[in-house]
Amino acid sequence: MVKRPRCETGIEVIDKELNGGIPLGSTVLIAGGSGVGKTTLSMQFLINGIKLGENGVFFTATETVSKLKKYLSNYDFFDERLIKSGELSIIDIWSISDRLGLSPERYNLEEANILFEVIRDIAKELDAKRLVIDSITSLCYRLQTQEMIRDFIFKLGSSLTAMMCTTFLTSEIPPRTFQYSIYEIEEFIADGILFLGDIERKGDLIRTLQVVKMRGTAHGRSKHVLDMSSENGIELAPMLKSTI
Ligand SMILES: Nc1ncnc2c1ncn2[C@@H]1O[C@H](COP(=O)(O)OP(=O)(O)O)[C@@H](O)[C@H]1O
Ligand SMILES: [Mg+2]
Repeated sequence: MVKRPRCETGIEVIDKELNGGIPLGSTVLIAGGSGVGKTTLSMQFLINGIKLGENGVFFTATETVSKLKKYLSNYDFFDERLIKSGELSIIDIWSISDRLGLSPERYNLEEANILFEVIRDIAKELDAKRLVIDSITSLCYRLQTQEMIRDFIFKLGSSLTAMMCTTFLTSEIPPRTFQYSIYEIEEFIADGILFLGDIERKGDLIRTLQVVKMRGTAHGRSKHVLDMSSENGIELAPMLKSTI
């Protein structure tokens, strides 16, 4: 069997769990509650790609670009020069939406289609090989029905796959629940799900990461401990079952 080409996340444990990386061009849901590391993981994924010569684009829908840059400057892996060089683009999705004159509340079918086309065209123009929407949950809020959400994610995913662009969609869910998306449609359309959770142990909240689903590859499903630091960003370590 021919092994499908992979997109190396550069986060060692994830690549190992996935037998080399995410199947190229997949759309992966990064699901988790608030503060589990979704934004950081997504940005690290883009910057690791730049090291391999792949341009990255980050669409923010939850924080302004300046707030995001300020927050990211805490991490050694983040370097503003990557923005100046054009390898990394950070784009406020609502600014685009406003400039296009789209509704500030709910989109109709035509508006949803315009936004989809703009995201696709930006990815094409920037020759992006990695793309993030942070978060798909807040974008879904403007899409009125499950059909519109399905249609939007499906069309976006298909055109990015055609461009060999691997995509992370962050999904905000309530803490300590066993669902991966609010509208319950995102998780079925996505090719993969990385679940970021937290568990309470002796009064501490420990962050965890688990590959839940990844179409097109065999993969491990073990829970790993996720650690965050300014020096190394996100790091994963095996969770020793005896310690929990
Ligand atoms: N320099 C840092 N070192 C370690 N942890 C940090 C640092 N900066 C922020 N954090 C942690 O990152 C968390 C936010 O991560 P983030 O990726 O924004 O989560 P999410 O997008 O899932 O809400 C904060 O709650 C904080 O605990
Ligand atoms: Mg976030």
